[in-house]
Amino acid sequence: MTSPTTVPADTAYDTTPHGPSGGGGAARTDTASPEAPVTAAGILARCRDLVRPSLAAAMERLHPWLGEMAAFSLGWCEVGGGPADGSYEGKGLRQALAVLCAEAAEAPGESAVAGAVAVELVHTFSLLHDDIMDGDGTRRQRETVWKAYGTGPAVLAGDALFALAVQTLAEVPGPHTAAAVCRLSETLSGLVRGQAEDLLFAARPWTGPEAVRMDEYRAMAELKTGTLLGCAAALGGLLGGAPTPTVTALDQAGRHLGVAFQAVDDLLGIWGDPAVTGKPVHSDLRQRKKTYPVLAALAGNGPRTRELAALLNSPLPLDEAGAMRAAALVEACGGRTATLDEARRRLDAARACLRSVPLDPRAAREMEVLIAFLLHRRV
Ligand code: IPE
Ligand code: IPE
Ligand code: MG
Ligand code: MG
Repeated sequence: MTSPTTVPADTAYDTTPHGPSGGGGAARTDTASPEAPVTAAGILARCRDLVRPSLAAAMERLHPWLGEMAAFSLGWCEVGGGPADGSYEGKGLRQALAVLCAEAAEAPGESAVAGAVAVELVHTFSLLHDDIMDGDGTRRQRETVWKAYGTGPAVLAGDALFALAVQTLAEVPGPHTAAAVCRLSETLSGLVRGQAEDLLFAARPWTGPEAVRMDEYRAMAELKTGTLLGCAAALGGLLGGAPTPTVTALDQAGRHLGVAFQAVDDLLGIWGDPAVTGKPVHSDLRQRKKTYPVLAALAGNGPRTRELAALLNSPLPLDEAGAMRAAALVEACGGRTATLDEARRRLDAARACLRSVPLDPRAAREMEVLIAFLLHRRV
C-alpha cells in the first residue's frame, strides 16, 4: 500500500486504496528538512495514517451491519464485508484540520486524534444522510450507501455514526472533554440546520423577491459545511491545550474554509470530472439546487441570465442537454468566476484568522498548503 506524496498541492491527488489497517503514509519526522516540499496530498496522507487506527477501532464498536455500511462508505470493504479492491476513502480534510491545529498549538498531533475521529464520523454520517436527501447514487467512486444497502439501513448507519462520534469524544480523558463535547453538539445542530436551509432553498423560486439571496446562501453553507470544518480546527486546538483566543481563531478560520470548500464543491458539481470527484456531475443542476455559481449567474439581467432563469424555472426535468446548456449559461453569466472569487475571499479570511494568533510556524505552513489546495482541488 502506498500513499500519495508528490502530487502538486493545487491538483487532484491520487486515489490510492487505503484500508483500515493503514500504513505506508508520509510520516512527520522532526529530522526532515524544513525546506522539504510539503504537498497537500502528503499532509492529508500523514494525518490519515495517524488517525486511521483509532477510527477503525471506534467503528469496531458499531453493530456489525452498521459498521459494514460505514466501512463501505469509506471504501474499506465491499457489500457483504469482503475486502475492497482499490477504493477511494475520501480526502480526510476534517481529520487533517484537527491534527494540524493541535500541532499549531505546539502539541503532538496524537492529542487531537479523538477529535479527528469524531469529526470524520460526523462527516460520514452527514454524507450518508445527504446522499439520501439529494438522491445521489454515487460517491467516492462507488455506489452511495442508500443505493447499495437501502434507504432505511443508510439512515440507521448514519444515526449510529452520529452517536459514535459523541461517544468517542465524551470518553477522551483529560480536562477538555466537556468543552469538546459541547462544541461537537453545537456543530451537529448547526450542520443539521444548514441542511434544513439547503432543502428549503430548493423549493424557493430562482427570481423575484422570494429568490435565495447570496447572504442566505453564505449562511447556509457556513452552517452545513463551515461548522464542521470550524469544529475540526477548534477541537484540534482545544485538545492540544491552546488558549481560548487561539481556539476561537481556529474555529473562525475553519468556518471560512468551509464556505470556500462548499463553493468549490458547487463548482465541481457542475464542471468537475466524475472520474476524479467520484460524484455525479450536473446532479445539483438537475435537482435545481441553489448553488453559488447559479445564484451568482442569476444576479445579472442580460439575455443569457434570462435564458438561464427560464431554463431553471421550466417545470420540465432537465435532461443532459438542458444541464449542459445551463452550465454554459452559468459560465457565460460569470457564475464560475464569481464562485472562485468568493472562495478566494473566504480563504483569505481564514488566513487572516490564523495570522491573528501565535501558531507553530511549521504547522502554519502546512495549513497554508492545505488552504492553497482547497481553491484548485479537482477532488
Ligand atoms: C463533501 O465533502 C461534502 C461537502 C461538505 C461538500 P468532501 O469533499 O470532504 O468529501 P470526501 O470525504 O473527500 O469524500
Ligand atoms: C454536503 O453538501 C453537506 C453535508 C453533507 C452536511 P452537498 O450536498 O453540497 O455535498 P455533496 O456535493 O453531496 O458532497
Ligand atoms: Mg449532496
Ligand atoms: Mg446536500
